[in-house]
Amino acid sequence: MATYQEIFENNRQWIAQKTATNADFFQQLAKDQNPDYLYIGCSDSRVTAEEMMGLGPGEVFVHRNVANLVNNVDLNVMSVLNYAIKHLKVKHIIVCGHYNCGGVKAAMQPKDLGILNPWLRNIRDVYRHHKAELDAITDEEKRYERLVELNVVEQCTNIIKTAAMQVSYQQNGYPEVHGWVFDLHTGHIVDLEIDFKNILQEIKAIYNLTDN
Ligand code: CO
Repeated sequence: MATYQEIFENNRQWIAQKTATNADFFQQLAKDQNPDYLYIGCSDSRVTAEEMMGLGPGEVFVHRNVANLVNNVDLNVMSVLNYAIKHLKVKHIIVCGHYNCGGVKAAMQPKDLGILNPWLRNIRDVYRHHKAELDAITDEEKRYERLVELNVVEQCTNIIKTAAMQVSYQQNGYPEVHGWVFDLHTGHIVDLEIDFKNILQEIKAIYNLTDN
């Protein structure tokens, strides 16, 4: 683990490395951002957004919170979502959960967790929506993994419920929403291959916000 002082030495080395191949790297970086991707992931220190995707500065707009939730009254995530869609015009939105997620694990325990109660309620609601499927899984570890996956799908659905998303997709044909799980044991990103178009179609029966 790097010491606090070592972080600044790391930073100097990183600058040297970036400018060695492109002397104008930071001048170009300072001009603007035009990322194609919005990534919404867990705050967990082991799930590194850019690093695992092999992307560098300027390539991905990032939002992280406990258990990668897209809650419709969270001004933070809703601001990120609206800005990414309307101004950055991202082409892909990724919700990335991960196995061994402490937030999801905590939500599975019937316990008072203080300020985390209202946050984790969103995951407990995912459990309630999928209770029959989850309760049928007898292996507790497998049930936990499935809840991680279902939580990602529900958060993707929450994005698809927003007006910004629906209007942009109708007008431009983007962004598309993707659900991923990061497998900490292997380093692999697993694409859950959610049926984005079908979810969008089905959801419009109740959540259509495009005025037609
Ligand atoms: Co997590």
